Amino acid sequence: MKVALIALSVAGAAISKPLAQQVPFGSQLHDSVVVPQADMPQVDFRVEGFSLDLNEPRLVQFEGHEPVWISEYQKLEAKANGRKFFDITDSADHFAAAQVKPTKTYDYPELSAQEKVTSVIKTLSTEGPRANLEKFSSFRTRYYRSQTGQESQKWLLSRIQEITAESASDSLQQAISISEFEHSWGQNSIVARINGTSDDERVVIVGAHQDSTNMWPFFPAPGADDDGSGTTSILESYRALLASDFRPARPVEFQWYSAEEGGLLGSQQLATDYANRGVEVYAMSQYDMTAWVKRGTKEVVGVITDYVDPALTDYNKKLIKEYLSIPSVDTKCGYACSDHASFAKNGFPSIFTIEGLFDDSNLQNIHSASDRIDVSPEFSFNHMLEFSKLAVAFAIELGGSEKSA
Ligand SMILES: *[C@@H]1O[C@H](CO)[C@@H](O)[C@H](O)[C@H]1NC(C)=O
Repeated sequence: MKVALIALSVAGAAISKPLAQQVPFGSQLHDSVVVPQADMPQVDFRVEGFSLDLNEPRLVQFEGHEPVWISEYQKLEAKANGRKFFDITDSADHFAAAQVKPTKTYDYPELSAQEKVTSVIKTLSTEGPRANLEKFSSFRTRYYRSQTGQESQKWLLSRIQEITAESASDSLQQAISISEFEHSWGQNSIVARINGTSDDERVVIVGAHQDSTNMWPFFPAPGADDDGSGTTSILESYRALLASDFRPARPVEFQWYSAEEGGLLGSQQLATDYANRGVEVYAMSQYDMTAWVKRGTKEVVGVITDYVDPALTDYNKKLIKEYLSIPSVDTKCGYACSDHASFAKNGFPSIFTIEGLFDDSNLQNIHSASDRIDVSPEFSFNHMLEFSKLAVAFAIELGGSEKSA
């Protein structure tokens, strides 16, 4: 396992056991796993700077199974074994929330804002994303239950506030609110909302996850690609939209989720809150990994086609064809594979666009200390820029102008 090759340095923790014993994954969780809480193996391991109790019971939903109680440690093990899931512990009291709601569908309009989209796209740059990502990937880890994960979130919040102050006119700033969506684990999700000019209150959402993880979460996790790249790609779109005096008819929100790596925790809480409050989501598009161009492959945009809204996915492909310099390819990533799934579960049309074919993505480095920006030539800021273009096009075309909405 990759993790075992990484030099170990955990701040504040004296670690004496051989690495293999500290990362004792490898036993397969069987499909039929239903572990009674009393039988959970106890793991005696705590690290300063992390509020992670490996023995804590968590209610987890794997594909095609009733939710099961497993320990936090077994969750890590499942993830290390490539199993995908929702952690639904926080909705355990409202079991209905764990059920999938049917998705409301829309007929999306023809593209109609070519002039505006093209002019904003021209102002996108790789410089801002590079500087932002150098900083964002310099936190030891952005793990959602770590001290540095809270620090990285506060840094991101302040960077969004600075960009808003620098890029938006005074009158546009009046229509913008930047807020933290609070989570009990301390790293909050962030929402930057640009209010619409019409009375159509259906929200257009562009999202990415801000947290990172090492497969063994106490280890360093620069998370440059996963998902520092998505985080900073959409931040660049946000900056350029504000600088262009973006006035959508519908509200447009940029969202940076906490705790994607813990089982889509942040996006589930946020999407469930929207559903409970009767907020309608017109379209949600999220970006998880946008930088990697596998050596020897042609540069493409991966469009995820499973567990997504088909109409919105088709629309996304139209945007790619119209506005990007590279083509799309269809690809799949499985059940509960990233934050769009939290929106789908709550009945909202949602999609996922990724750096290439899923099998060509940066699987050899993510969830390890090697997920860095200096892996050349595969880690590409030019590639990230294509995704910034796409988020700009999505926000303008679906945000609508007063006439078209
Ligand atoms: C944006 O719109 C919402 C809902 O209509 C309103 O509650 C909020 O005050 C508005 N925010 C700003 C910054 O104008």
